[in-house]
Amino acid sequence: MKKNQTDIKTKSFYIETYGCQMNFADSEIVNAILLEKGMNPVSDAKLADIILVNTCSIRENAETKVWNRLKEFRGFKAQNKSLTVGVLGCMAERIKDQIIEEEQLVDIVVGPDAYRDIPRLIEEVEDGRKAVNVLLSLEETYADIAPIRTTGNGVSAFVSIMRGCDNMCSFCVVPFTRGRERSRPLESILNEIQQLSDQGYKEVTLLGQNVNSYKDRSYSFSTLMDKASLVDPEMRFRFSSPHPKDFPDELLHLIAEKPNLCNYIHIPAQAGSDSMLERMRRPYTRDQYLQLIEKMKGIIPGLSLSTDIIAGFCGETEEEHQQTLSLMREVEYDLAYMFAYSERERTLAYRKFEDDVPEEVKKRRLSEIISQQMSIQHRRNHDEIGQRHVVLVEGTSKRSEQQMSGRTDTNKIAVFDRKEFEKGDYVEVEITEATSATLIAKPIARTSLGAYYSAILEA
Ligand code: 5AD
Ligand code: SF4
Repeated sequence: MKKNQTDIKTKSFYIETYGCQMNFADSEIVNAILLEKGMNPVSDAKLADIILVNTCSIRENAETKVWNRLKEFRGFKAQNKSLTVGVLGCMAERIKDQIIEEEQLVDIVVGPDAYRDIPRLIEEVEDGRKAVNVLLSLEETYADIAPIRTTGNGVSAFVSIMRGCDNMCSFCVVPFTRGRERSRPLESILNEIQQLSDQGYKEVTLLGQNVNSYKDRSYSFSTLMDKASLVDPEMRFRFSSPHPKDFPDELLHLIAEKPNLCNYIHIPAQAGSDSMLERMRRPYTRDQYLQLIEKMKGIIPGLSLSTDIIAGFCGETEEEHQQTLSLMREVEYDLAYMFAYSERERTLAYRKFEDDVPEEVKKRRLSEIISQQMSIQHRRNHDEIGQRHVVLVEGTSKRSEQQMSGRTDTNKIAVFDRKEFEKGDYVEVEITEATSATLIAKPIARTSLGAYYSAILEA
């Protein structure tokens, strides 16, 4: 340690996270790295010596939110001269120079592959310098770091199985902010799942930008899911996100067979016309996508599906927009994440196409997509009335202390009377009412995955 430098151990830190689940998982890794150095986590930014903002670049509004927050932190600096503010994640990678030079507020900038370096960067700032590490790596998976989960419900956790993305969809900035695709060794994933099971977690979502291309030696994503499901038969598994271009049949059969692999698949379509899919550099046609969906529904009875859709991508015609709407009607998703296209520098679309759909047209198309989806969801959820599900209880409902809230195997939120149930219980319920977002249920009894599914098989 240099003269006049405060020991890093005496410092408190606060992490604020924006963006995707992967970012939340990354913040848990940063948490572990800083705790290992003896630093002190605080849950209020105002009490922290170091504020770290884990950022997202996927759309402009994600970045705008972060800029506004950074400006608020500038206010904190007036009160506390020694406050250090750091930007982590995708924005760090994308606009490092702007962040440091234009916004005098930020002291540290760290890209997604450089989190191990944060303690050193904090010490560098102590010397009055700005500290930056935005190097992307071909190998870093943080495999040896056990994430420390300070937020979350203690029941469901995210486990990152790979990093980066090699897909190069023309609209997407992720390959530039998160670098090349690499998989984490299978054993380290299974160990983390075992630890989560020992800590009482009941649900794990395996995360990657393109999980079907997971590869560790001869192990594929299907092997990983199979092995994960065996770690704890009472733990449920989900994954996000697969790519429609290479979804393996083997995985569909596994999901159908194994009670603890959830009957829910998030399968981003992005658009519904061949011409648009081609401009987006999505290597499948509408027909191929629909055939995949048909196969999925055929192999997995009661399957629930969700998707990502972009409205108003470059050159989108009214006809192409109509095809997106019709694809969504044909599939009947249970949930959809729907976005207006937001142009991102460096992407292929930025270099090659014009962002030429006027803002009000984008907005109108997006709202047509959303309102159609809401009515599909409403109808599909209504069809659930009278059906039974196993719900994993995540906690008390936001609306009332007297109600518990959890998710069905099909990833729908269900709310029911509290009774004697606790967080982490599996409860068999019967659906009595539904809105487009929530199922209201009558609890039948506490159960286990083993007991529930063997009763179904016997019936
Ligand atoms: N504009 C709007 N939405 C985007 N997505 C990715 N890039 C953009 C963009 N430039 C959406 C895609 C992706 C999801 C995570 O975010 O639908 O699947
Ligand atoms: Fe996640 Fe993509 Fe946003 Fe980065 S840009 S935080 S990878 S959604």
